[in-house]
Amino acid sequence: MRVVAIDGPAGAGKSTIARALARRLEIPYLDTGAMYRAVTHAALRDGVEPGDAEAVTHLATTAHIHVGYDTVTVDGVDVTHEIRSDRINQAVSRVAAISGVRMVLREQQRAWVSKHGGGVVEGRDIGTVVFPDATLKVFLTASAQVRARRRVAEYGGDVEAIARSISERDRLDSSRADSPLMTADGSITVDTSDLSIDEVVAKLHALVVEREATNG
Ligand code: DC
Repeated sequence: MRVVAIDGPAGAGKSTIARALARRLEIPYLDTGAMYRAVTHAALRDGVEPGDAEAVTHLATTAHIHVGYDTVTVDGVDVTHEIRSDRINQAVSRVAAISGVRMVLREQQRAWVSKHGGGVVEGRDIGTVVFPDATLKVFLTASAQVRARRRVAEYGGDVEAIARSISERDRLDSSRADSPLMTADGSITVDTSDLSIDEVVAKLHALVVEREATNG
């Protein structure tokens, strides 16, 4: 089974690169960050405090979350745009730090990959925890300024304010006790600050082909 794990901090280019690579490899793509965002949406919708581990884990178990190629629904409602809002950006790291939520979503991620027979999966703990035996494990990174500028180009806003918000999320994601953001054993780190999307995709595509040739 062909599985490509793509991890890294916010704004490193994971979604763009993962989608393009999936298209090129002709395998499906899963954005696991959208799953954490969807659970956060359900919590805010129901007036549940994002740090309430028990209540949020219950929601993660009971809510019907569907992450498609370009739409996300929670209990049948399209939340594709809403999950990218400031409200969600500010609460999602707290939800992602809850072990119960991580356990539920990891199982869903593994089930998704089994059902689809592989895929390009992006997140924070994909190469370290969810798929440590992936065909290729990539840690994508870029300088903080470049990452903030990319977010502003995509969603608008003030570069300095976004840079602060990204740094705070990185700090929380990297310092949490359960599966913090870090490089996986055997992963390759790619700094995308000065590379074009096509260059990164071509490099990763070549690596997948090379790994498969080596591993048979
Ligand atoms: O990639 P993103 O910005 O959409 O991720 C949203 C949040 O979810 C971010 O705070 C990190 C967290 N996350 C995680 O902890 N584990 C994953 N596999 C994916 C995302």
